[in-house]
Amino acid sequence: MAITLQPTRVVSRRDWAAGLFSLVLEVQIPMKAGQFVTVGLAPQGDRHTRRAYSAASAPGQPLELLVVEVEDGRVSPMLAHAKPGDTLYVSERGKGLFTLDDLPRRRDLWLIATGTGLAPYLSMLREGAIYEAADRIVLAYGVRQPEHLAYLDELQAMQGAHPLTVVPLCSRTDPPKGGLRGRVTDRLIDGTLEYTAGVSIAAETSHVLLCGNPTMIDEMVGLLLARGLERHSRRVPGHITTERYW
Ligand SMILES: Cc1cc2nc3c(=O)[nH]c(=O)nc-3n(C[C@H](O)[C@H](O)[C@H](O)COP(=O)(O)OP(=O)(O)OC[C@H]3O[C@@H](n4cnc5c(N)ncnc54)[C@H](O)[C@@H]3O)c2cc1C
Ligand SMILES: NC(=O)c1ccc[n+]([C@@H]2O[C@H](COP(=O)([O-])OP(=O)(O)OC[C@H]3O[C@@H](n4cnc5c(N)ncnc54)[C@H](OP(=O)(O)O)[C@@H]3O)[C@@H](O)[C@H]2O)c1
Repeated sequence: MAITLQPTRVVSRRDWAAGLFSLVLEVQIPMKAGQFVTVGLAPQGDRHTRRAYSAASAPGQPLELLVVEVEDGRVSPMLAHAKPGDTLYVSERGKGLFTLDDLPRRRDLWLIATGTGLAPYLSMLREGAIYEAADRIVLAYGVRQPEHLAYLDELQAMQGAHPLTVVPLCSRTDPPKGGLRGRVTDRLIDGTLEYTAGVSIAAETSHVLLCGNPTMIDEMVGLLLARGLERHSRRVPGHITTERYW
């Protein structure tokens, strides 16, 4: 049975770079930090063309999305035209298991994102309950170039107030000060990611969340398994939790 989508309006829009933008919607929906919502275009007959988007907003706040326009995509190019006052259709609640529920408590929590894979972490960091889940949090945020580091100012401001270290990575040009050049996988292999964060990844002390590009997730999981970490599930506790965007 089709999930019911409710109409809501776009309240505001922020453009970070060509094809990369945030939308704030009027609606607030029941959700946990880290979950996704379903967003649909105007219905044709009784059907919406729809896709999943992680909420970047904290629970209880107007729903905010961080979206990249995928060339030749069906939904994201339509969202790229959305402006304040336009109507979109969203699910009535958040869904998904990429949350802080059921994570084993370990000293260090790593949040690793590529591109718009930042969104669920932003929701968690804005909510704040994440700081109960670990003593230290490292956010490794990999994008192609510095203009794609959406919300970097907000994230850097959070570092001053919380035990959070943000490591921006840019793969195609130089990163901003304090960041790394290259892919997150390569910087894990050469040790500079952990050195820059001042935190090592180890099975005894770490839980790692991975979100975004599925090839990044596959490669990171391979590297982490080789270091003795294991996949986490509610039934079999481990160290690695993933959210693949495609
Ligand atoms: C749980 C979940 C949460 C998601 N959260 C977000 C989010 O917060 N922000 C966001 O922008 N997207 C997010 N996505 C991706 C989103 O659902 C759509 O897949 C994306 O917007 C492309 O949809 P489309 O209709 O434009 O392209 P489609 O017509 O669906 O597909 C085009 C092709 O592009 C590829 N593709 C899909 N997404 C990407 C991407 N980001 N980069 C490169 N290639 C891609 C796929 O192989 C797909 O077959 C999420 C996906 C999932 C499963
Ligand atoms: N980002 C934007 O502002 C923008 C704007 C318009 C359109 N688009 C389109 O949106 C889609 C998504 O682009 P995106 O830049 O958001 O996401 P992306 O292609 O997933 O790239 C984000 C980051 O992930 C890295 N990465 C990719 N594969 C990896 C792997 N296997 N291991 C480790 N790191 C990996 C990339 O490195 P590499 O650079 O080495 O690949 C890049 O640093 C593309 O189709 C793009 O053309 C993006």
